[in-house]
Amino acid sequence: MTTIELVLGDITEQHVDVVVNAANSSLLGGSGVDGAIHRRGGPEILAACRELRAGHYGGGLPTGQAVATTAGRLPARWVVHTVGPVWSDTEDRSQLLADCHLNSLRVAAELGAASVAFPAISTGIYRWPVASAARIALAAVRDAPVELVRFVLFSQETYDAYERARS
Ligand code: APR
Repeated sequence: MTTIELVLGDITEQHVDVVVNAANSSLLGGSGVDGAIHRRGGPEILAACRELRAGHYGGGLPTGQAVATTAGRLPARWVVHTVGPVWSDTEDRSQLLADCHLNSLRVAAELGAASVAFPAISTGIYRWPVASAARIALAAVRDAPVELVRFVLFSQETYDAYERARS
């Protein structure tokens, strides 16, 4: 049985095995959670991302996929980078958002991680409505191959939306 926790807070401060980053396909950083993780984690994470781009991920990380790097100076052991879909009014991209969670968990389990912290992927710059994102994320982690999944929500509004989607 996986324990699912919701907390209001900053994902860079979580003492878990894996912190999931809401990255973009370049893997070379951005703002929001991505910016915070690189800032707090230090240059080792960017160096590892550059290596990925120089190797298997020369074309970038496709939307819905996930890949791990060191967590640098973060209290976590690894960062798993995933790319959420940009919200679309005309196309249903829900499966890609579910895939972000499923593939991040698969990568985490392959590393031997027991605990994984997720941000509210796609709900910032990628404009996914938070009530919908919360439903998709919580359904995707229901049978997670790890002991603990913690959603780290950055605002009370986002926290409340996840709380509503859980009940
Ligand atoms: N801890 C937890 N959550 C955070 C933090 C943080 N330190 N900083 C921001 N958030 C929240 C935002 O409030 C939002 O609810 O994370 C959620 C996701 O927002 P974004 O970081 O904007 O991610 P996303 O919508 O998936 O957009 C991805 O943003 O910075 C870029 O490189 C990234 O291009 C990519 C895009």
